[in-house]
Amino acid sequence: MSNQAYVRAHTNIALIKYWGKRDEIDFLPMNSSLSMTLDKLYTDTMVVFDDSFAQDSFYLNGEKQGEKETKKISKFLDLFREEKKTAMRARVESINHVPTAAGLASSASAFAALAGAANLALGLDLDPQPLSTFARRGSGSATRSIYGGFVEWDMGTCSDDSFAVPVDDASWDIGMVIVAVNQKAKEVSSRIGMKRTVETSPFYPAWVESAKKDIQDIKAAIAAKDFIRLGEITEANGMKMHGTMLGAEPPFSYWEPDSIVAIKTAQTLRKQGIPCYVTMDAGPNVKVLCRLSQAETIKQALLEHFTEDKLIITKPGKGIRELTAAERAVYNWND
Ligand code: ADP
Ligand code: DP6
Repeated sequence: MSNQAYVRAHTNIALIKYWGKRDEIDFLPMNSSLSMTLDKLYTDTMVVFDDSFAQDSFYLNGEKQGEKETKKISKFLDLFREEKKTAMRARVESINHVPTAAGLASSASAFAALAGAANLALGLDLDPQPLSTFARRGSGSATRSIYGGFVEWDMGTCSDDSFAVPVDDASWDIGMVIVAVNQKAKEVSSRIGMKRTVETSPFYPAWVESAKKDIQDIKAAIAAKDFIRLGEITEANGMKMHGTMLGAEPPFSYWEPDSIVAIKTAQTLRKQGIPCYVTMDAGPNVKVLCRLSQAETIKQALLEHFTEDKLIITKPGKGIRELTAAERAVYNWND
């Protein structure tokens, strides 16, 4: 049996955000969340387990990673080793087709791809749902990247039932224009940011309460294929999440002046009769949810303020899958 596998996972952007953990060890969230998987942004990961390896090693975008990053990967792979009852160490090589740690959800595609590759390499044969519980323990948002389209992460009651559920394949006229305001690594990671908010923001309990309602409402909008309602709920939910941070001690915000320029552009487009709605994550980048058929028009309006290289149009993406031989051949793996 080959102990090697290559897997692609796409990032996802939450329309109803995951913001806050009730259990930091098992990555159990305070609220259920719902996302759209993206076609354009993804991670390709190879993992090989071998008896002859003395320790785990991790290469990201061709560069060998230091102790801190490698330890994170080792801890994650321990979950799979435990399941398989093996002590074999691994080499992980990963390529991000998404900026790392810039609020474009590299950790979501990263841990979904690694979970998928480890599952295959060790022959664990986990189904997507239990596999999503493994991905979750690398990074919460990775839970949702196992599936394509619209995906709910059900907060569950314990580690085994806090998993992703596919909601709709999103194969209707829907897309996203990403305004990559700033692709630098952020100062406050989502992990630290959500922890500070849970612990100190008086707005936090209100967030949890309203997220419960938002998730029900957005699922109804998806079932009815009501794009306007979907967009309104998405925009309102994202704003509420960012509001909790202003109430934290010390307060913080991921917004930059250009984030507001992008938001205002979307609002102006809306007034002109083009439905489009914004959402932001733990970074200054703005994601504009729109009809795919109108994405080009929206991009043209954004081009008045942003350069071409900062604007990415994407349609909904698919769930994780093995790389084909041709896709594998594109990279210089270390094997
Ligand atoms: P983002 O907004 O990109 O998700 P986070 O701070 O939440 O930012 O996550 C970034 C972290 O995810 C990185 O610091 C790294 O530890 C991890 N990561 C990113 N890409 C990969 C990858 N391809 N393989 C493994 N881990 C990765
Ligand atoms: C704002 O999944 O990156 O993007 O579980 O600590 O790794 P950890 O956090 P992460 O947080 C994502 C937060 C968010 C909202 C979302 O994707 O739901």
